[in-house]
Amino acid sequence: GAAELGPYRHFMQKEIFEQPRAIGDTLEGVTGIMPELFGDGAYQVFKQIDRVLILACGTSYYAGLTAKYWIESVAQVPVSVEIASEYRYRVSVPDPRTLVVTISQSGETADTLAALKHARSLGMHHTLTICNVATSAMVRECSLAYITRAGVEVGVASTKAFTTQLAALFLLTLTLAQVNGRLDDAQEAIYLKQMRHLPVALSAVLALEPQIIAWAEEFARKENALFLGRGIHYPIALEGALKLKEISYIHAEAYPAGELKHGPLALVTEEMPVVTIAPNDALLEKLKSNMQEVRARGGELYVFADVDSRITSSDGVHVIRLPEHYGLLSPILHVAALQLLAYHTALARGTDVDKPRNLAKSVTVE
Ligand code: G6P
Repeated sequence: GAAELGPYRHFMQKEIFEQPRAIGDTLEGVTGIMPELFGDGAYQVFKQIDRVLILACGTSYYAGLTAKYWIESVAQVPVSVEIASEYRYRVSVPDPRTLVVTISQSGETADTLAALKHARSLGMHHTLTICNVATSAMVRECSLAYITRAGVEVGVASTKAFTTQLAALFLLTLTLAQVNGRLDDAQEAIYLKQMRHLPVALSAVLALEPQIIAWAEEFARKENALFLGRGIHYPIALEGALKLKEISYIHAEAYPAGELKHGPLALVTEEMPVVTIAPNDALLEKLKSNMQEVRARGGELYVFADVDSRITSSDGVHVIRLPEHYGLLSPILHVAALQLLAYHTALARGTDVDKPRNLAKSVTVE
């Protein structure tokens, strides 16, 4: 009801603004990296596995894709990420030395539960879930668990559950790295400090809301949008496009920016806004040349840069600068900006933000 909403117009907006608290709660009590954060016996399990298989649906699947980039680069463990409804029905090659990780806000998604059972039936018994509901079927079914503390999420389009999943998956990344001898005490201290600072950094991103509202007014008049990212921000581009289509009904697609020339460039005209996630990382220079390809075709660029990215606004290039450069954890900050863009675009279009047509919060049937 209205009382629960406080100053917010929708649950989605309230949940976006709850993220600093949700991440703080999810990481509360984490004073150091240790396998036991994931349950009793986790060390033995993490010692025995030599690959990770992530199973999830929807937004949770995109959290898994982000984790693949993290785990492979930091822990050097090979990761595959599969859409649960595909994995459960395809013939795959099982490996008993796999850590099966399910990611689920509700812990009740039928396809994810079935994919987990399928993996087990193939002889993979090391199971871990990243889940927001401690009493759910998923937590009961997995031997290890990390419970995110997003709190109840009402908006059908997931927001705070996603960023808390990312926080938990980063912890998993560091833990696997430690078990593999790839995390020394100095690095651990740096990462922990960055994680503890996330709520403050995220609040600073949420304070960009007025600038994002100005962009949303432009987006509300469009019927298509393209989202570009590279590396750890490619899954965030996917999530930004998903948020926009779910609640504003604008057709949105995401591409890894290097793939632009293999198809989507054909769609770029003055009518196609192109949202670009452009933090100052190793791929920034490559991304800038992708941006020029868009400008050359008349596409308008809406760039989420950060304090260190050397990109300035010019004709057809709009820039919002996130206040901090956040390295590997940057996806958590960038996605919050994209959530706000989707939210305000939907608001301007007058759609039912918290209950988009045809969609359900939790899909407990196939
Ligand atoms: C539905 C929701 C999405 C969610 C997905 C997976 O489609 O609308 O927001 O990402 O299910 O749900 P889960 O609870 O397993 O994370």
